[in-house]
Amino acid sequence: MGAIEKVFTTGFVLSWDVVLTLLNAILPKRKIGHVTPAGEAGAGGKWPEYIAPKDTDSRCACPALNAMANHGILPRDGRNITFKEMNRVIRATYNFAPSFCFFVPNYSANMLNKSYRKDTFDLEDISLHNGIEHDASMTREDVRHQPDQGKPHLPFVEELLSRATGKDAEGNAVLTIPDVAHYMAKRRVDAPRANPDFTTTKFHETFGASNSSTLLTIYGGRVDDLRPILVEERIPDGWESRIRAPFGLTMINFNVGTVNKVEKESQKEQKVYAASLDDSSIHKSPEATT
Ligand code: HEM
Repeated sequence: MGAIEKVFTTGFVLSWDVVLTLLNAILPKRKIGHVTPAGEAGAGGKWPEYIAPKDTDSRCACPALNAMANHGILPRDGRNITFKEMNRVIRATYNFAPSFCFFVPNYSANMLNKSYRKDTFDLEDISLHNGIEHDASMTREDVRHQPDQGKPHLPFVEELLSRATGKDAEGNAVLTIPDVAHYMAKRRVDAPRANPDFTTTKFHETFGASNSSTLLTIYGGRVDDLRPILVEERIPDGWESRIRAPFGLTMINFNVGTVNKVEKESQKEQKVYAASLDDSSIHKSPEATT
């Protein structure tokens, strides 16, 4: 995609997102139990059968995309997926807004030098290091320690979930913005100390905050849901997206409501956590050091 087309596409997606944000503010929410549209996989909380991936199946660093393949919502082998299909199923399964569901697959197509309209990809392609995938993730070891980014690193997942300090109306454990931000901060300080190849940029930190923020928005931070999603990459029976806005979670609401708060809190906590260690080594992104 050429530079002019990129500018035009971004402008169009942002304008579209503004309109959807306004429509969401005035139209009634989807009813609980009816968030996944009738006729789509998962309607009424009935998800297609979960089958754990075989060694030959293609999987990536994203638990949400892997879960769709594990349920056959995306091809079970994780191969030959069109970007348009990824757009459609993210919208139906997770209730992200159509603007987001176009923007991220379109971004991925550009990242892989592929055509959004014509080409296909395998899930593992999405794990291109320092494309969207980056060091210091919360559910994966850095690529230096684990070249196969298709599998979660369970000690990280368990540590993240064990940090839940919130409670929902029924008293179940819920991750809060500080819980997620503080674990993200810990990973950002610990990872470069253990990885001589560690790299990061402001861009990757923002993408990381965005990935992490889906735990609080789409999944509502609920630990009982997040354990199967992050450990087995399985969608629990009866689950539906916690976003009830009729046009789904827009990029504006996502960023203003959650991502920016998670990133700000994480930046603060990184300094506190680094100072609490023996030395105060803290990775500086290239921009921050120049
Ligand atoms: C639109 C297409 C999507 C693409 C191309 C994509 C891609 C990715 C990639 C490459 C990563 C690894 C980032 C890292 O290194 O930590 C990731 C992580 C993640 N993604 Fe996605 N993703 C998409 C949609 C979603 C959706 C819809 C959700 C939630 C429902 C989601 C939730 C997550 C979570 C929770 C992580 C783990 C973050 C971590 O380990 O720190 N993603 N995604």
